[in-house]
Amino acid sequence: AGHPLTDGRTDRSPLVEALRAGTTGNRPEMTPVWFMRQAGRSLPEYRAAREGVSMLDSCLRPDLASEITLQPVRRHGVDAGIFFSDIVVPLRLAGVEVDIAPGVGPVMGQAYRTPDDVARLVETELTEESLAPIVEAVALTVDALGTTPLIGFAGAPFTLAAYLVEGRPSRDHLAARALLRGDPETWQRLVDWAADLTGTFLRAQVRAGASAAQLFDSWAGSLSLADYAAGAAPASTRALGHVADLGVPVVHFGTGTGHLLPAMRDAVTAAGVRDVAVGVDYRTPIDEAARLLADGHAPVPVQGNVDPALLAAPWDVLEAHVRDVVRRGRTAPGHVVNLGHGVPPDTDPDVLTRVVGLVHALSGEASER
Ligand code: CP3
Repeated sequence: AGHPLTDGRTDRSPLVEALRAGTTGNRPEMTPVWFMRQAGRSLPEYRAAREGVSMLDSCLRPDLASEITLQPVRRHGVDAGIFFSDIVVPLRLAGVEVDIAPGVGPVMGQAYRTPDDVARLVETELTEESLAPIVEAVALTVDALGTTPLIGFAGAPFTLAAYLVEGRPSRDHLAARALLRGDPETWQRLVDWAADLTGTFLRAQVRAGASAAQLFDSWAGSLSLADYAAGAAPASTRALGHVADLGVPVVHFGTGTGHLLPAMRDAVTAAGVRDVAVGVDYRTPIDEAARLLADGHAPVPVQGNVDPALLAAPWDVLEAHVRDVVRRGRTAPGHVVNLGHGVPPDTDPDVLTRVVGLVHALSGEASER
């Protein structure tokens, strides 16, 4: 078999059809749904598989990464797998000292803040050979997934650079924003390096069989539009330039990005990607996002944005909210239902399965528009 997107396996899948609806005008019959962080601590089978293995080690064991990717697809019947990995995996593969502290997130061996720090960092390089475990894990996974598409992903250069400059997770990204404005040359060297690193990681996943790609700019929301446009968007465009020729649809997601949505779309388009979709967090109603994205521009598909907090609310509250999200999503050319951010670790997995059933059942009502 060749690539799932071109050999007949996934090009008619609800996910791919929805993500391409901006250019084809065809909405899928069934509304697709998947969840960011669907592979994770909410699943007992995940906790069992990960027992005694560190997060980053589990990402680099192809059999384990593949098994964990498949777990939520089997259990919930979601319309896509998301490759089990992490945005900092390419850093580790390039030899940068990084770990993922449980309950905290990525912690770097050092913070990269001075021109010298950055000059030394950009000497490191991500080689083809070091990506072998990623390529193998993706190949194993797409074989097992059959007609269900796999989404490949990478961190956007800004979000990666934010971890590198801060050295660890941060709420406001003050040091990163200070470097962006205070030493734009050093900042640019850093994000351009991060763009090629993360773009190479994403390209490896797509070539190995991923049918769509998602760029996570999780922390872009901490930037003003002007800083985003000057210091983040061009590097995201550079990263996506590594996959534009491969023909996969691209979703661009961040949190707190209501003020950045058109700029995030434009960063993807500028790379030469044809099928662009924008992921929306829970703060911006999805129809409002669709409207912002349609202003002076051909409308694009949207992804989102069930509030993760409501996964713990009584079912009738969650059900009403999911129905509302699906109804609002009909104002965009295509809609992929997802959460507004990742699945909280203490989520009851049966609730997620029930949400999938509800979204699929509501698809039939789309024709009653
Ligand atoms: O199911 C999936 O979504 C696939 C896998 C995935 C992970 N990380 C696995 C993971 C994806 C797509 C990511 C992306 C990622 N990693 C992002 C972007 C998405 C987002 O959440 O905004 C970011 C910012 C990171 C960095 C990171 N890695 C954080 C903030 C954390 C959380 C730390 C914690 O323990 O809560 C991680 C660790 C991580 N990545 C876990 C998983 C399943 C938890 C580790 C564990 O189970 O021990």
